[in-house]
Amino acid sequence: METQNTYNYTVVRQFAVMTVIWGIVGMAVGVLIAAQLVWPELNFDTPWLTYSRLRPLHTNAVIFAFGGSALFATSYYVVQRTCQVRLFADKLAAFTFWGWTLIILLAAITLPLGISSGKEYAELEWPIDLLIAVVWVSYAVVFFGTIMKRKVQHIYVANWFFGAFIITVAVLHIVNSMALPVSLTKSYSLYPGSIDAMVQWWYGHNAVGFFLTAGFLGIMYYFIPKQAERPIYSYRLSVVHFWALISTYMWAGPHHLHYTALPDWAQSLGMVFSLVLLAPSWGGMINGMMTLSGAWHKLRTDPILKFLIVSLSFYGMSTFEGPMMSIKTVNALSHYTDWTIGHVHSGALGWVALVTIGAIYFLIPKVFNREGMYSTKLIDTHFWISTIGIVLYIASMWIAGVMQGLMWRAVNSDGTLTYSFVESLEKTYPYYTVRFLGGLLFLIGMFIMAYNVWKTISGAKPATQTA
Ligand code: HEM
Ligand code: HEM
Repeated sequence: METQNTYNYTVVRQFAVMTVIWGIVGMAVGVLIAAQLVWPELNFDTPWLTYSRLRPLHTNAVIFAFGGSALFATSYYVVQRTCQVRLFADKLAAFTFWGWTLIILLAAITLPLGISSGKEYAELEWPIDLLIAVVWVSYAVVFFGTIMKRKVQHIYVANWFFGAFIITVAVLHIVNSMALPVSLTKSYSLYPGSIDAMVQWWYGHNAVGFFLTAGFLGIMYYFIPKQAERPIYSYRLSVVHFWALISTYMWAGPHHLHYTALPDWAQSLGMVFSLVLLAPSWGGMINGMMTLSGAWHKLRTDPILKFLIVSLSFYGMSTFEGPMMSIKTVNALSHYTDWTIGHVHSGALGWVALVTIGAIYFLIPKVFNREGMYSTKLIDTHFWISTIGIVLYIASMWIAGVMQGLMWRAVNSDGTLTYSFVESLEKTYPYYTVRFLGGLLFLIGMFIMAYNVWKTISGAKPATQTA
């Protein structure tokens, strides 16, 4: 009982369980929109079921509901364990859970209704934006309050990543959401023209860099050493990794705006910083991977470790691909094509989802005071089904993307286009079907996880009640 009372596990449990539930919801919407791209009849001629409204629902649900809940759960767990104190302000921590859940429900209602500010990954309208700011600042107070009252002098590196993610997301959200409301459900951005685009992609890219990367690196730095029962390979490298990563990410946003009205020098600056970003990203990946040195054999029998380590290989892959795609001549081919979608999901499914799944499998028995997950065999099945799903998803999108890019730029000797747009779409259909199947496999894996988590939680507690 002692550990259960010393630490605030209630909020960790709530967020951990919701990670699985929101994962299923967000990915089910992903599978539906993937199906709509193959069978457009699935729009059912109903406005709130159309692709255009469900797509932002998918991105918001997977990034902020699934990814967000995973980040709250793990950061609250890690900061307590590494600082050896209970979370600061229990009531405020509970408020972050209920506030975040309310935001997700409001998103799930307003986005299908077509209420949107039109900024990607920041679609929610101003009243919800205000609520997000309040919940996020409360999160910062709980997290940093816990750091302040810590019993261990040293601040473990995972907390540095979580801390940077929390501060940066607050700044990004508040600056990018500046808008003039004209009614309860409609507002206009305060920034004009290309400045608006620049602010939006400074936000968008750092949402990737801090929400989908720095926070999840915090997860990596705690859960890989724990699961492998090995200290992190190099503490020094982790500190270099941290400072290099956070100082470089901020400048890379313009690679989303190549060949636009943005000044040329800003585009080139974004490209150069994106190329530099390869180094810290790979430094982090190597640090995580090498933590396993001397313990590689564990990969054979431990499916949780498989999730964590394979997530790092996808991280390495997408952070190699990203810098390549930021080179202007490569981007001239990849932009607007499904190559981008392949890149996104090699990061989102391969890195973010796999590291999350691994961490949640580790966390659930700990915070519910069980001896382990109900079935290791099912974790292994989940691992294989999701890995096959990812490979089908990203390989089909890579091929489709390069094909589309080449078809769109092909010209006849008289200068006319060789292919019409519709021809490229027709050729893409088989790949959309493969992507749908890959997504479906990944979703089935999430159901297997939900079953395993349910059986673990409802199973018997161990006789000795210490976690
Ligand atoms: C070194 C790291 C990375 C670099 C330099 C990078 C670079 C890029 C580039 C050049 C694009 C295409 C922009 C365009 O043509 O519109 C892109 C898109 C994207 N990347 Fe990455 N990437 C990196 C890592 C990641 C990771 C790890 C993730 C996910 C976890 C990710 C998520 C995304 C998303 C969501 C988009 C699509 C944005 C949109 O247009 O909506 N990236 N990235
Ligand atoms: C079963 C799993 C999933 C399926 C089937 C799926 C499917 C899709 C589809 C069909 C799109 C629209 C592509 C387009 O417009 O051409 C999309 C976009 C996107 N998805 Fe997923 N997805 C899944 C999981 C995830 C996860 C776990 C994340 C993040 C953690 C994610 C993040 C995104 C993002 C950021 C975009 C927008 C990309 C862009 O604008 O460039 N997805 N997804």
